[in-house]
Amino acid sequence: MTAELAARDPGQLRLLRERARDADAIDEMTAAAFGPDRFHKTVYRLREEVAPIRDLCFVALDQKGRLVASIRNWPILINERWPAVLLGPLSIAPELRGLGYGKALMWHSMAQSRMQGHSRIILVGDPEYYNQFGFRRDLALNIQLPGWVEERRFLALELVAGAMIGVHGMIGKPVPPKRATRRRKKQ
Ligand SMILES: CC(C)(COP(=O)(O)OP(=O)(O)OC[C@H]1O[C@@H](n2cnc3c(N)ncnc32)[C@H](O)[C@@H]1OP(=O)(O)O)[C@@H](O)C(=O)NCCC(=O)NCCS
Repeated sequence: MTAELAARDPGQLRLLRERARDADAIDEMTAAAFGPDRFHKTVYRLREEVAPIRDLCFVALDQKGRLVASIRNWPILINERWPAVLLGPLSIAPELRGLGYGKALMWHSMAQSRMQGHSRIILVGDPEYYNQFGFRRDLALNIQLPGWVEERRFLALELVAGAMIGVHGMIGKPVPPKRATRRRKKQ
């Protein structure tokens, strides 16, 4: 580690599942990282009125309890058939960037996705960053987003070998769970 990085080292951080009270701090950090135009991005249309996957949203806190990193994941359905995870946003507090926390959150989130039964992850992000985790452009060539996307940044990852084979079509929101239908009592 260079002297500059060592000087910024915050020591031990705590990685937790996101709590309800983290929402404001996450919004603030995400706004600072991605700017006011973020809501116009196509991926946000897939997140509107859809809850993130609670067990796949994580935050990191510093020793004073301040939120310094966040990663969220959302449920999506490809072509009404193939469930997948939509990864993002991932944001690290500006003063802690380049210290490996982005990588740590990515590997943690990917491992948890697999452990929770998911087999494929989609994201829109810089390939120069996400290729290192196994995200690839070629795996997303047969799927589409419901709006404009910079093609080179539209990537997919197989958590299970072959999980993208034959997967094609438009990405949509997950199907809402059906309301429990009340059984009518027999008269
Ligand atoms: C992108 C981000 C999540 C990376 O997290 P981080 O903790 O700073 O990154 P890490 O320490 O894990 O990795 C650092 C490495 O990634 C590289 N990197 C960071 N952002 C990158 C990008 N957008 N494209 C290519 N490489 C990138 C750094 O140059 C560094 O490379 P090195 O290891 O060869 O020196 C973080 O910088 C951030 O929150 N940025 C603003 C929000 C954002 O752009 N998020 C999504 C990216 S599309």
